[in-house]
Amino acid sequence: MSLNREQMLVEMGISPIWVLRDAPAVEFDVAHQIQEAAQPVPSAAAVAEAAPLPVQHVYQKSEPSSPATLDVGALDWPALARQVAGCRACSLCEQRKQAVLGVGDTSPDYLFIGEGPGADEDAKGEPFVGQAGKLLDSMLAALDIARGNRVYIANAVKCRPPGNRTPEPAEMAACWPYLERQIALLKPKIIVLLGKAAVHAVLHDDKSLASLRGRRFDHAGIPVVVTYHPAYLLRNLPDKAKAWEDLLFARRTLREQTTPELPF
Ligand code: URA
Ligand code: SF4
Repeated sequence: MSLNREQMLVEMGISPIWVLRDAPAVEFDVAHQIQEAAQPVPSAAAVAEAAPLPVQHVYQKSEPSSPATLDVGALDWPALARQVAGCRACSLCEQRKQAVLGVGDTSPDYLFIGEGPGADEDAKGEPFVGQAGKLLDSMLAALDIARGNRVYIANAVKCRPPGNRTPEPAEMAACWPYLERQIALLKPKIIVLLGKAAVHAVLHDDKSLASLRGRRFDHAGIPVVVTYHPAYLLRNLPDKAKAWEDLLFARRTLREQTTPELPF
C-alpha cells in the first residue's frame, strides 16, 4: 500500500486541522477521535492475521530469576523474553499482570520506543494496543509502515506503572539493560523516541521535547530522533502537525542513513 500525501494526512488525523485552522476544525477532529475510540480495538489475533508478525514477544509462563547474576547483554531473544517475563528488578513487578517486552519485525527499519504499558497493554501483553496505540498505528500508516512490517515497538519500562504514572528514573534505569539488549538484537536503522520518558531512558536527557525535536541524536551508531508521545497528541491535537513533521524528519534521516548519496 502506498499513500499519497493527502491520504497520509488523513491517516494521521491532521488533514482537517491543516485545511481548517480555526476552532471548528479541531472540534471536527475531536469528533473523529471519539468516533475512532468507540471502535473496538482489533484483537492481537486480528492484527496478526492482517500482518503476520515474525515474533510476538508474549510469554505467559516464566520463572523468577535474578538479573543481578545475569549478563543481559549476552541473551538471545528467547532468553531475554523469559528473563523479562520473570523480572523482579524493580517494584513495577508487584502490580503487573505481565511484563510487555515488545512486538514487531525483529529486523526493522524503525524502532519506536514509548513509555510503559498501560492497562490494555498489561492485559494483552503487547505494547500500544489502547487508544494511544490506535494513533500510533495511524502514524505508522502515514509512513506506509505497520507494526510487524519494518517496525518494532517497545517501551522504556516493561511493566505497567500503577495508575499509569510516569516511570521513575530508577525504574527506567533498572529496565534499561533489557531495552539496550533489544536495540542490539534488533539493529534498527533508526530509533524514534515517543515522549520524555523514552528520551530520558535512551538519551539520558531531560530537556523539553520542543528543544529536542528535529535533531539527530545517536545511540550505539544508530540515529535517534524525538517526537511527542501519542497519548500527549490525543490531548493536544494541534501538535499532531508537529509529530507529522517529526516523522518526515525520521524518514529523511533513515533514507540518508541507507542511501547517503541520494539528496532527499
Ligand atoms: N503508552 C506507552 O508509552 N506504551 C504503551 O505500550 C502504551 C501506552
Ligand atoms: Fe524488571 Fe523492567 Fe519490569 Fe522493572 S519494569 S520489574 S526492571 S522488567
